[in-house]
Amino acid sequence: MRKLMLVLLACISALSLVKADTILNNVYARHTQSLNGSWNSIVDPFDNGYYDYRLNVSNNGFFKNQKAKSKSDLVEYNFDTAPLIKVPGDWNTQDDKLFFYEGSVWYKKDFNYTPKPGTKAFLYFGAVNYFCNVYLNGEQIGTHEGGFTPFNFDVTNKLKEGSNFVILRVNNERKPEGVPTVNSDWWNYGGITRDVLLVETPDVFVDDYLVQLPKGSYDKVEGYVQLNEKKAGVEVSVEIPELKIQKKLLTDAEGKAVFALKAKPKLWSPESPKLYDVIIRNGEDVLNDKIGFRQIETQGKNILLNGKKTFLRGISIHEEAPYRQGRVFSKEESMLLLSWAKELGCNFVRLAHYPHNEFMVRAAEEMGLMVWSEIPVYWTIHWSNPDTYKNASTQLNDMMERDKNRCGIIIWSVANETPHSDARDKFLADLAAQVRAKDNTRLLSMAMEVTGTKGNVSQVKDYMSKYVDIISFNNYLGWYGGTPEDCKTRQWDIPYDKPFFISEFGGGALQGKHGDKTERWTEEYQEELYKNTLDMYNRVDGFAGTSPWILMDFRSSRRQLNGIQDFFNRKGVISERGLKKKAFYVLQNFYKMKKEQELKH
Ligand code: GCU
Repeated sequence: MRKLMLVLLACISALSLVKADTILNNVYARHTQSLNGSWNSIVDPFDNGYYDYRLNVSNNGFFKNQKAKSKSDLVEYNFDTAPLIKVPGDWNTQDDKLFFYEGSVWYKKDFNYTPKPGTKAFLYFGAVNYFCNVYLNGEQIGTHEGGFTPFNFDVTNKLKEGSNFVILRVNNERKPEGVPTVNSDWWNYGGITRDVLLVETPDVFVDDYLVQLPKGSYDKVEGYVQLNEKKAGVEVSVEIPELKIQKKLLTDAEGKAVFALKAKPKLWSPESPKLYDVIIRNGEDVLNDKIGFRQIETQGKNILLNGKKTFLRGISIHEEAPYRQGRVFSKEESMLLLSWAKELGCNFVRLAHYPHNEFMVRAAEEMGLMVWSEIPVYWTIHWSNPDTYKNASTQLNDMMERDKNRCGIIIWSVANETPHSDARDKFLADLAAQVRAKDNTRLLSMAMEVTGTKGNVSQVKDYMSKYVDIISFNNYLGWYGGTPEDCKTRQWDIPYDKPFFISEFGGGALQGKHGDKTERWTEEYQEELYKNTLDMYNRVDGFAGTSPWILMDFRSSRRQLNGIQDFFNRKGVISERGLKKKAFYVLQNFYKMKKEQELKH
């Protein structure tokens, strides 16, 4: 009987595992109560707070926040006396003992709430790496997998008047079937790494909206307003005051109002990153956004921004915090990294290898930087595992959902350096189809690899080439094989009538280490490699841009050379202390030249 009861209880709790709701669009424009700040934390390497000693999921785990009722009671945890940890923020850089830690950490936060009639409440997380169980007042409200996309739960009927507490079990263990899988060249920062907000909305509210130029048009603004309920005849409105648009609409039976309005907005571009104030209304529910309008397309071997050929003067960026290290989560640190990209003369950034925080994407758009945004389908993913595909597809959907109104994003990328196989081709072709079905206004790419070199001709031939708009590939001639000298004679065979883009090249240098240009790890070696590599690609027809690897040195568990790497990947053109290396100026001069060329045409 007891066994049956336990099984029943497990089924009920599984049913109550609500999957996260659809992501609330433009959460920072909504009525929110921040739950950021100090949370109590309990490190739990053996998941002792989650399983009993027979490894059954315990009904009495740490999420119950039990208290000893008498002095003889046995309770072997106490959040009230547990150490504090800052949210948002990875745990690795907040406590030296957690620098390499991979496992579970429990987080707890008390907060007060006063339910208001006619309103709903949602618990929103900007990102949690990598997996989490979320509990409210001792009851599990859901789980989430994937370390770089937002999620939220409707907690309207679960909050109490007055004091409440939220507990998370966060686990950052790498899994072979995960996305990413167990090997990646970046630090596995664990924790609640982005904002936590309690979001309040009216009972019927604007759940989602889209405002954009339709593909190929310059004189129409189209999109939709979607309510959270399937209610017809509800009046909503779209306002763009500068374009003298104030359009009232009625929702259909799905609670959706679609619009297509005549307008000729000033186009967004890196030189003139024009953003319009857009107000979406549904009664007292008002959402303000800043939205730009532009066209991006390819024509033969050219990339056209607003109909004009453009060269993507890019740089790759990880979410590694300058100076302090750790996962970036703030607007300030995002803007600092992007300001270095601007100083390089960039008009483009590759936000590698996962969706960056929303502030980074919005700041790039405001600063006039086009964006490549990607999901961490990286290296040796388990291509034949349906759960792995579902995970990748969900992360892709959530990345596109969050940033659908960000005109700065011009490329969605579905993979990085993935080994060829039929299973990989099917996996990526399905992801590519998902992108095409959801968004025909942006370009699709993925970072491929060189597929062979005969004599001094290197070739990129990838089955996935027919799915992408731009043939992007990473190549490290002169670092992983060959010498910087070899770039002077290397030819390229890229047999496609599409633009090609070098999504990565580069080499390591310890900032301040000097020697002759043949000495590995000197700034001079990296400088020579940049000079020769840029000259090499600049000779090839169809070279449409590059995002060299990488803006700043970043933490990686795969970089152990002590005294040089010390668990940093040293390919930055800037050190983690913000000090520029000689290669920075090579790239800056090259982009200055490319920009002057573009201005002449
Ligand atoms: C690869 C990979 C990067 C990695 C880089 C390197 O191309 O895409 O994530 O950091 O090479 O080896 O430094």
